[in-house]
Amino acid sequence: MGDRVKLGFIGSGGIVRSHLEQGLEGFDDVEFVGWCDLDLETASARRDQVGGRGEIYTDAQEMLDEARPDAVYIMLPPFAHGMAERLVIERRLPFFIEKPVAIDLPTAMCTGEAVDRLGLVTSVGYMTRYRRSVQRVRELLQTQTPVLLHGGWLGGGPSAYEGIWAWWVQKDKSGGQFLEQCTYTIDLARYLFGDVTTVYAVPVRDRRERPDFFTIEDASMVQLAFANGAAGNLYCSCSTSVGGGISLSLWATDLCASFTGWEHSVAIDVPGGERISIPGEPNVFALEDRAFINSVKAGRNQGILASYYDGVRATAIACAANESMATGRAVDIRI
Ligand SMILES: NC(=O)c1ccc[n+]([C@@H]2O[C@H](COP(=O)([O-])OP(=O)(O)OC[C@H]3O[C@@H](n4cnc5c(N)ncnc54)[C@H](O)[C@@H]3O)[C@@H](O)[C@H]2O)c1
Repeated sequence: MGDRVKLGFIGSGGIVRSHLEQGLEGFDDVEFVGWCDLDLETASARRDQVGGRGEIYTDAQEMLDEARPDAVYIMLPPFAHGMAERLVIERRLPFFIEKPVAIDLPTAMCTGEAVDRLGLVTSVGYMTRYRRSVQRVRELLQTQTPVLLHGGWLGGGPSAYEGIWAWWVQKDKSGGQFLEQCTYTIDLARYLFGDVTTVYAVPVRDRRERPDFFTIEDASMVQLAFANGAAGNLYCSCSTSVGGGISLSLWATDLCASFTGWEHSVAIDVPGGERISIPGEPNVFALEDRAFINSVKAGRNQGILASYYDGVRATAIACAANESMATGRAVDIRI
């Protein structure tokens, strides 16, 4: 590897634009060598965004073989995972992958096993972990016993079925709102309270008139049992146009913390009436991108806070919720 880390992208849509704007574009130790997307115009738009650097491709294998990146950003919708990871792993390349890492557990586990076997550097886009608010609460929880948490993503849902919203509303493409969007909060629940053993989920459907291709739930309510005995409740809705937003509140024996908004600003209450407030940072993509690039350069983890393993665990919880919604039964996590 030269002074600059050569990056290739598989999937070059909206989330790549954000990583470029808020992180990678400003890094002087990266070079953009390949933009792959099934849609040539999308790949081309990303190349234009960085002043025409790198070649455009519609085939991932071709990009990997011709552009020869040192590391790859895999930025695909949930249903498209599997093949790209195989190609990247065959070449033993470190990769950054956007959440959720797959729409089903077998795909995630197959990639996870290969990553472990080869000891590859990986990072999953659970950017909320990099926030100071989250780090402070995690630190305080080290001396606490976790008790309860609840939180989720509540909104009105798409008003037009274009761009990402075209695949997002199809259950077999996105996996549903809980798997695709609430995955941040699933991950955060794990990061703060530890592993989950059992999941029970209730779907809410038929709240609004929808087109036939709208096959995700209108909302869901998901009960979590944690390995340490704590309990949690996560929910999401794309059918409620007022109120809501993103939140996570948790209680430990002597601590209460409430995260609000995409930026996950937090208010922490501790005994004695003291309140600690920490605002969320605006540039969180830059933090996770920096940790990944540093790790690629070092050939080992240099600050990555969520690895592929964490992506598999969050996927297991979401898939258990989907199974529970389908069967009406509580589902144990068996990985
Ligand atoms: N971290 C975040 O804040 C955040 C925000 C938005 C999206 N995401 C995640 O990023 C992922 C991508 O979302 P997006 O908003 O960029 O979606 P998008 O639809 O804008 O882009 C996805 C792109 O992948 C391309 N694609 C699909 N299959 C492909 C394949 N086999 N090979 C190459 N290209 C392929 C599509 O043509 C499309 O351009 C999703 O999993 C989403 O959940 C994360």
